[in-house]
Formats: sequence, C-alpha cells, structure tokens
Amino acid sequence: MSHVLITGANRGLGLEFARQYGQDNWSVIAVCRTNQENEELKALADEYDITIEVVDLGDFNAIDQLAAKYRNQPIDILINNAAVFGPKAKADGDLRQNFGTMDYDLWSDLLRVNMMAPFKLIEAFIDNIATSDEKKIAAVSATPGSITETDPGLNAYRTTKAGLNMAMATLATELKPQGISIAIFCPGWVKTRMGTDAAPLTSDVSINGMRTLISELDIESTGQFRRFNGETIPW
Ligand SMILES: NC(=O)c1ccc[n+]([C@@H]2O[C@H](COP(=O)([O-])OP(=O)(O)OC[C@H]3O[C@@H](n4cnc5c(N)ncnc54)[C@H](OP(=O)(O)O)[C@@H]3O)[C@@H](O)[C@H]2O)c1
Repeated sequence: MSHVLITGANRGLGLEFARQYGQDNWSVIAVCRTNQENEELKALADEYDITIEVVDLGDFNAIDQLAAKYRNQPIDILINNAAVFGPKAKADGDLRQNFGTMDYDLWSDLLRVNMMAPFKLIEAFIDNIATSDEKKIAAVSATPGSITETDPGLNAYRTTKAGLNMAMATLATELKPQGISIAIFCPGWVKTRMGTDAAPLTSDVSINGMRTLISELDIESTGQFRRFNGETIPW
C-alpha cells in the first residue's frame, strides 16, 4: 500500500487531495491545525484509510513529535499544502501586508507557516520519504511567488511563496542523489476559503491536475515550478 502525508487536509485543496488519494486506496496521513472545522475530513476518514493528525505547523516541536510517531513508516509522497494568505487589502481593506502599514509579526508568522514549516516537515520526515518506493515531495506554492509577478500588495504572502520556491528548488538539488524528487506547484485560482467563490476553478480539477503531475514526477523533472495543468511558471 502507498502512503501520502498531506498538510492542511481539513479544507480546500488539502481536503480534496485527501479525498482523491483515499478513493484510490492510498493510506493517508491527514494533518490539520486543530480538531475544529474538520467534519468533512472526519467523514472521509470513516470511508477511506485516512488517519487524522492535529499539528499546528508553526510548532516545530509538534512536527518532530509527529515524525517520531511515524518512525520507520515509509511515506511515498509528502504534500506540503497548508498555508496562510494573510490580510486581504482588496476584499477587507486590511492593509497589514501592504507597504507603509506592514505588520511585521504577521509577516513573521506567515514566513514560519508557509516557508519554514514545509522545510521543517521534509527534515523531520526525510527518512520516511527516503525509504519509500516513490520518494516524492510536492510543495503547493503560488504564482504570486514568481519574481516576474510584482503587482503591489500581498508583500507577506508573496515573499513566503518566493522563499518556499527557493527552498524547494535548492532541496531538489540536495536530495537528488538520494533519488528524492520535488514538484513545486501553483494550483491555479481555486474556489476555497483562500481562493473565494470568485475563483474560476474547482478543487477537483486542480487536484486532478497536480496528482497527474505528481505521478509523472521523476528525478529528471525534479525542482520545476509548474501550474496544475503542466505549464511551466517562470521563477
Ligand atoms: N485557492 C487558491 O486559489 C490558491 C491559489 C494559489 C495557491 N494556493 C495555495 O494552495 C494551498 C492550499 O490553499 P487553499 O486554497 O486550500 O486554502 P484554505 O482553504 O485557506 O486552506 C488552507 C489550509 O492550511 C491550513 N493551515 C493554515 N495554517 C496552518 C497551521 N499553522 N498549521 C496547520 N495547518 C494550517 C488551514 O487550516 P485551518 O482550516 O485550521 O485554518 C487549511 O487547512 C496553499 O498553499 C495556498 O497558498 C491556493
């Protein structure tokens, strides 16, 4: 049986990853920030081989404790999906990630969850990945993390994703000799809490696309930044 670990699995794209891998008879470790607001995931766990784990990804000791619990358990795919968008200036008039009104504590929190925690998870679970059959990592990034996208605003979110991209591209090189491959994705603009109902895409389309790319991922294609539909995104 193949094993996948998914962060942010209680809603949005993470929940759809859990649903699709569960449907395909994978064993899923579904990581959630809290035990609240995860009823849909609990319902999926009644139907499929899904184990729910509660870890706030800002708590790196808790990540180590989770890894200790799964010591010697191969994990074929680690999906770093969870992230925080931060205040939305356009929708809510909240300017805390804009130039002139930046909230630096908030920026720091976003960097920890969106950029450092994915790196920390890979460090914590590297033996699980290295001893698996597939040896794959997927990072859900975002097009606003591309240096070619410099529309003003969203300074905190953008930099977390640009930093995530650099961390994952560097790790792709570092882990290549161990046969571990890494995919870096933009899922598209998707209807989720983060993407809002205004988004054109549904999560099943986005996740279908990313799962296809994960299945095609190999050591030759490691370290690429691609959209859910396979398009290459400039760094
Ligand atoms: N939707 C889009 O249009 C879009 C576009 C580009 C990129 N993305 C990326 O796609 C990924 C998934 O986003 P989404 O649209 O599914 O967003 P979402 O609906 O807001 O879900 C985000 C998930 O991350 C979890 N999370 C946040 N902080 C956490 C923490 N400290 N510890 C553990 N879990 C935490 C949330 O948990 P709670 O429910 O407990 O808060 C939630 O499960 C993100 O990396 C996002 O940046 C999304």
